[in-house]
Amino acid sequence: MLAPGVLLCFEDERPLASKIAQAAGLSLDLVACHVFPDGEIKLSLPPSLPPHVVLLRSLNNPNAKLLELLLAARTARQLGAQHLTLVAPYLAYMRQDVAFHPGEAISQKIIGQHLADLFDAVITIDPHLHRVASLQEAVPARQALALSAAPLLSEFAFRQCPDILLVGPDEESEQWITEASRPHGLDHAVCRKIRHGDRQVEIALPAVDVTGRAVVLLDDIASSGHTLAQAARLLRQAGAQSVDVAVTHALFSGDALQLIVAAGVGRVWSTDSVVHSSNCVSISGLVANALKPLLQPH
Ligand code: R5P
Repeated sequence: MLAPGVLLCFEDERPLASKIAQAAGLSLDLVACHVFPDGEIKLSLPPSLPPHVVLLRSLNNPNAKLLELLLAARTARQLGAQHLTLVAPYLAYMRQDVAFHPGEAISQKIIGQHLADLFDAVITIDPHLHRVASLQEAVPARQALALSAAPLLSEFAFRQCPDILLVGPDEESEQWITEASRPHGLDHAVCRKIRHGDRQVEIALPAVDVTGRAVVLLDDIASSGHTLAQAARLLRQAGAQSVDVAVTHALFSGDALQLIVAAGVGRVWSTDSVVHSSNCVSISGLVANALKPLLQPH
């Protein structure tokens, strides 16, 4: 039987792409990227494309990748794509959703509109939507789908130790903590956080007794690592027996991982939304299930 479409990926994301393609019944092909001596890039796609094309690109280190998306999407249309879906497991620029100071670019709106201009559908995982209610508001594409990996991560953590206390490091994490705790009725709580700068965060622990507990800190993103490190430090000081970390998007910039470990974190688990040594939970099934209805003939 003919595949309902093709999944295109870049070489560095081939392992995740293969899993998604297999689970969604898509064929798999590569976008090749040549970098010229002056830094310009040239992309090469398969010369003829079916009507349904899915492009996988996780937007960690987003600036160069946003240019790749522009070139790849416009070329895919010329080569026959009629319905173009972007699967960006990590969707960058979602945190800058208001101008905190006069003159600041509201990146979420600008990048969201840019992606909606290029793609018919956008699928992502745990996007950082704080002040907007839905992904559609941030990315006004015909279809904009936000999936959550929090239940997969909490299931993984539960299988390591059934008696965990799930803790979110800030109020924003409440959405995924609540959802993730539901299937096994896990104890859960969220901290409060004030961010003073890129690497300065102040955290207040929730009013729950953590003495002797196996705590799993669950968050959407680990970037500088300061949020998780500060929360872990306080939890250990408050008597937690262990603190492990589970994140959807393992950005771990610079020395983030060392910082977290130095703060008393034992194990670090993440999904394969961003390639990282801590990956242990795959989002491929989640993404494939979301893709299937989009691949039906229109
Ligand atoms: C924001 O509130 C997010 O949920 C994360 O907690 C935050 O982005 C993590 O950033 P960092 O690792 O730089 O503290």
